[in-house]
Amino acid sequence: MDKLGKWSNIGVLFTVVLVFLSFQVAWSKGWDGVVVTQADFQALSALKHELVDPRGVLRSWNDSGVGACSGWVGIKCVNGQVIAIQLPWKGLGGRISEKIGQFQALRKLSLHDNALAGPVPTSLGFLPNLRGVYLFNNRLSGSVPASIGRCPLLQTLDLSNNQLSGTIPPSLAQSTRLYRLNLSFNAISGSIPVSFTQSPSLIFLALQHNNLSGSVPDSWGSKVARNTSYKLQFLTLDHNLLSGKIPVSLSKLSLLQQINLSHNHISGTIPDELGSLSKLLVLDFSDNAINGSFPSSFSNLTALSTLNLGNNILDNHIPDGISGLKNLSVLNLNNNKFTGQIPAAIANISGLTVLDLSKNNFSGEIPDSLDTLTNLTSFNVSYNNLSGLVPSLLSKKYNSSAFVGNLELCGYSPSTPCPSPPPQSLPSQQGTSRPHHRKLSAKDIILIAAGALSVILLLLCCVLLCCLIKKKVSSKPKNGKASGAAASSTRAAKQSPSGGAAETEPGGETGGKLVHFDGPFVFTADDLLCATAEIMGKSTYGTAYKATLEDGNQVAVKRLREKITKGQKEFEHEVAELGKIRHPSILALRAYYLGPKGEKLLVYDYMSNGSLSSFLHARGPETAIDWATRMSIAMGITRGLCFLHTKENIIHGNLTSSNILLDEKNNPRIGDVGLSRLMTSAGNTNVIATAGTLGYRAPELSKLKNASTKTDIYSLGVIILELLTGKSPSEATDGLDLAAWVASIVKEEWTNEVFDVELMRDAPNIGEELLNTLKLALHCVDPSPAARPETQQVLEKLEEIKPEIAATVNPGCSGDEEKVGDEE
Ligand SMILES: *[C@@H]1O[C@H](CO)[C@@H](O)[C@H](O)[C@H]1NC(C)=O
Ligand SMILES: *[C@@H]1O[C@H](CO)[C@@H](O)[C@H](O)[C@H]1NC(C)=O
Ligand SMILES: *[C@@H]1O[C@H](CO)[C@@H](O)[C@H](O)[C@H]1NC(C)=O
Ligand SMILES: *[C@@H]1O[C@H](CO)[C@@H](O)[C@H](O)[C@H]1NC(C)=O
Ligand SMILES: *[C@@H]1O[C@H](CO)[C@@H](O)[C@H](O)[C@H]1NC(C)=O
Ligand SMILES: *[C@@H]1O[C@H](CO)[C@@H](O)[C@H](O)[C@H]1NC(C)=O
Ligand SMILES: *[C@@H]1O[C@H](CO)[C@@H](O)[C@H](O)[C@H]1NC(C)=O
Ligand SMILES: *[C@@H]1O[C@H](CO)[C@@H](O)[C@H](O)[C@H]1NC(C)=O
Ligand SMILES: *[C@@H]1O[C@H](CO)[C@@H](O)[C@H](O)[C@H]1NC(C)=O
Ligand SMILES: *[C@@H]1O[C@H](CO)[C@@H](O)[C@H](O)[C@H]1NC(C)=O
Ligand SMILES: *[C@@H]1O[C@H](CO)[C@@H](O)[C@H](O)[C@H]1NC(C)=O
Ligand SMILES: *[C@@H]1O[C@H](CO)[C@@H](O)[C@H](O)[C@H]1NC(C)=O
Repeated sequence: MDKLGKWSNIGVLFTVVLVFLSFQVAWSKGWDGVVVTQADFQALSALKHELVDPRGVLRSWNDSGVGACSGWVGIKCVNGQVIAIQLPWKGLGGRISEKIGQFQALRKLSLHDNALAGPVPTSLGFLPNLRGVYLFNNRLSGSVPASIGRCPLLQTLDLSNNQLSGTIPPSLAQSTRLYRLNLSFNAISGSIPVSFTQSPSLIFLALQHNNLSGSVPDSWGSKVARNTSYKLQFLTLDHNLLSGKIPVSLSKLSLLQQINLSHNHISGTIPDELGSLSKLLVLDFSDNAINGSFPSSFSNLTALSTLNLGNNILDNHIPDGISGLKNLSVLNLNNNKFTGQIPAAIANISGLTVLDLSKNNFSGEIPDSLDTLTNLTSFNVSYNNLSGLVPSLLSKKYNSSAFVGNLELCGYSPSTPCPSPPPQSLPSQQGTSRPHHRKLSAKDIILIAAGALSVILLLLCCVLLCCLIKKKVSSKPKNGKASGAAASSTRAAKQSPSGGAAETEPGGETGGKLVHFDGPFVFTADDLLCATAEIMGKSTYGTAYKATLEDGNQVAVKRLREKITKGQKEFEHEVAELGKIRHPSILALRAYYLGPKGEKLLVYDYMSNGSLSSFLHARGPETAIDWATRMSIAMGITRGLCFLHTKENIIHGNLTSSNILLDEKNNPRIGDVGLSRLMTSAGNTNVIATAGTLGYRAPELSKLKNASTKTDIYSLGVIILELLTGKSPSEATDGLDLAAWVASIVKEEWTNEVFDVELMRDAPNIGEELLNTLKLALHCVDPSPAARPETQQVLEKLEEIKPEIAATVNPGCSGDEEKVGDEE
């Protein structure tokens, strides 16, 4: 019943929203044209005056303030008041003016990664609307102003990696919305204010790499009523001069995920109570002076993935209960005083990758069970008091430096043979378990010799085969342009992307040419041509293959249709530009190859989860795709497109769900970027025609043959509809394309039929988000190009609808870290 009520309410809301949309003059206009207030203009002038701007990034701050809210770089306004100043990575020097206190509407100040010196302005404390302060990675000095605690809405204060000194003002905890406080990597001294232990809002407290001293206060989570849950999740206090004991009260912070107290002077024992921190993922107490035993309660830390207790003075034995740490990946107990046997139960922690028990006083044998830890990549038991045989797999995988310093341990290297075979080893284990030092029989010798001979024969065959192939290739008529290709490849190397010189491999014997752009792959033209390939799909541009290289790396190769691609010179010029494009949501072009007969191959990263189209439409009924995943895909695509439009000045022209690819974490990457630039105009017309049949084509394209940012937005809108409805645009729905179908249903009467049934299960919680997203998508597929929003606006809207995802994904299209919207 409740559900029904909610949905009919949403129905009402929706009609209101539609009306609102049609009357709103233009979303894209925003607040442009409103002149900045006098007070804010004065403050902007003062700000500019005290900054040093060697790169001239503030060039646009030139007029008398008329354009401050519409054209000045880094400034955002609402109603003529500055709400955000965002100038990160701009090479700015000088100081931050105290006049900053005049921006009464300022919500966000982001000047990180510059070369700003001088103090953090105390006048920040006068800003009632301030939510985010990002001044990290500068050269600010002086102390943290206590006044900042007066900002009632402050959420984030990040002053890390500066030269701040003095002590931490306890008043910072007065900001009851402060959830991220980062003062790490400074030279702050004094003690940690007790007030921080009672903040109901802090989630991240990062004070590492300072000169803090005294003990860590032991009043965590004590002040407010019992039913308040403390929010602290990340507590990093490492690399300070803290002393005293580990506070027992940390156990009250039930949401803690990470505690790092390493590299301090902490002593005493580990409180048993910490075993109740069931959300803990990382615990690092290393490099202190902690004594006592390994707490048996730790067997309850089932989520823990990293446990570092190295370089302390812990003793006694490790309890068998350690196998309760089911999710543990890294266990480092090196350089302590642990005694007793290494518990065989450690082998029950099947995901263990690092096990360091070196420099202790463990005795007895290394348990055979450790051989079953298949994911172990690093193992060290050196400098203990171990004896007996090293289990065979361990001795094969690790060299002697992992075992040395144990007087009675044997069998891990030729110089440490075991005195005699172990008393009872089962015949079935002989092959793999214990090394035996018996004499070789004649039969063995014959077998070994035969084996060696066959290996040599095999090698010979390979060499012969290679020679034959080479000969055949070079006997083909050689391309007359070979030397020319080599010359032009040198030029390409010089023009290569900023990230590093492109390596080029001139023709050689195959007569082709391979040009690498920056990226992780190393392969030659031969490697590429000899890779095993399977066809992934065909399109108007050409055929896509999945190629597996000799070293096991996989790449996606697109073989372009020769008839519709531009001539070599033009092609190379354009492709060099495409090879520079790097963004987390854009499929990276890693190399291209020009064959002797004019073949053109493009090499991209291989995306294991295939295309968005198959992800959505070709899955079993069991595999549901939740709303958060769909939303993060929509955001990723929008970020990528926004980057293309605003930073690269590229129109995609053929955005469809089949050329959005998904990596192993389902992050989207836009494929086929800029391919239209490599095509002749005839080729491009062809593509536009095809896009139309797939239902992604903006209506105006039937008359004008020119793709634009607005036709891309139309396609983006269709993809968002696809995510919302779970329907493919090509599958006819009442004879209408997807955009028209959704619009028709919405027009008739509100019905939740539009949404994918899977999403409806969660409808009571996400109803409004679905609705707002639908509204946005419909805005994008508006028949009139001028009415459609810009990518930047689509992005802001999506982030507003689901801010919790916005905060976890990669930087936006501007390359800027956070959006004002995030602070809401
Ligand atoms: C101010 O800068 C903008 C952008 O750099 C430029 O378009 C405009 O002409 C400049 N105005 C003046 C008065 O110099
Ligand atoms: C704090 O700042 C440091 C240095 O800038 C950074 O590495 C770290 O990730 C930040 N931590 C948080 C929780 O913001
Ligand atoms: C921080 O502490 C270290 C070690 O005691 C000392 O060498 C350094 O001078 C201190 N730095 C400041 C700025 O106090
Ligand atoms: C905490 O408990 C008090 C009284 O028992 C109650 O009035 C208050 O609403 C509770 N607060 C929360 C957050 O549950
Ligand atoms: C683990 O937690 C359970 C339930 O909270 C508790 O009863 C048990 O004593 C704990 N185990 C240890 C070893 O502390
Ligand atoms: C196990 O650890 C990983 C991090 O390595 C974490 O993402 C995951 O949530 C943990 N699992 C549980 C059950 O806590
Ligand atoms: C692993 O755990 C099971 C039960 O949880 C136990 O029976 C077995 O002995 C453990 N294995 C080792 C090697 O301790
Ligand atoms: C071992 O590693 C592989 C690959 O990283 C992973 O898929 C598997 O789940 C891991 N095994 C365990 C038991 O954690
Ligand atoms: C190592 O442990 C044994 C007991 O197992 C003890 O006798 C010996 O003194 C310890 N050695 C060191 C160096 O602590
Ligand atoms: C090694 O362990 C044995 C007992 O297993 C003990 O008697 C001996 O003292 C230990 N040696 C050292 C150096 O700790
Ligand atoms: C042993 O292996 C480690 C890495 O696993 C390596 O750093 C070290 O140099 C090797 N030592 C010898 C003696 O081979
Ligand atoms: C093993 O630990 C010892 C002492 O902690 C260290 O010197 C050595 O490099 C380590 N070896 C490996 C392979 O990690």
